[in-house]
Amino acid sequence: MKEQKSIQLEHIRHWVKEALTNERTGHDWQHVTRVAKLALYIGKTENADLFIIEAAALVHDLIDAKIALEHRLEIQEVKEQLASFGVSHEQIRQIADIITTMSFRDRERRAEKPLLIEGKAVQDADRLDAIGAVGIARTFMFAGAKGNSLYGTGNSAYAHFSDKLLLLKDMMNTETGIKLADERHEFLLRFIRQFQRETSGLDCETS
Ligand code: ADP
Ligand code: NI
Repeated sequence: MKEQKSIQLEHIRHWVKEALTNERTGHDWQHVTRVAKLALYIGKTENADLFIIEAAALVHDLIDAKIALEHRLEIQEVKEQLASFGVSHEQIRQIADIITTMSFRDRERRAEKPLLIEGKAVQDADRLDAIGAVGIARTFMFAGAKGNSLYGTGNSAYAHFSDKLLLLKDMMNTETGIKLADERHEFLLRFIRQFQRETSGLDCETS
């Protein structure tokens, strides 16, 4: 059984890696591997089903509306691919439930039907990867890919910090997620302070 699961995970990794290697909006294979690692770390402290966590983390961004069109799949295609690797119907149902409702955009809808612990671990991991040094880097990568400006009014990269990134620390589900988010949030605040100093010219004012 254990052997079967690790073979299935190997298939999923191979498939997702191929699908997302050249994705350039910050939802790439490197993001997926960081999320899977964080989600497993969180899941181990929560006595969760680690197969569901890893599988869901690996496929979580394949259906995201924000990823480049040529990399995006329909949920049905993800389900069929998982079935072709021998993942059971019930496991596919759980994985699909997590990845279709874990996004920041779904937070209000989710309030009515909270995620199970496996979903909470993957969601925390995905949110952790949106903050800290990596989160900052991804924000500018995303903005570059979309042609958005660095800062200023409108849909700028810098506006994304207050629109979303600064809210994530208080949206963590798990104890481990909360702990990890604290350090990353502090780093966001430091970055913002310095960014404001430089963009407002405070560091080159003559007194
Ligand atoms: P989620 O799956 O939680 O909805 P997103 O797809 O919105 O996450 O975000 C993926 C990555 O792109 C994150 O690092 C996020 O901070 C970044 N991002 C999303 N929207 C923007 C934006 N408008 N400007 C800059 N970065 C963004
Ligand atoms: Ni993601």
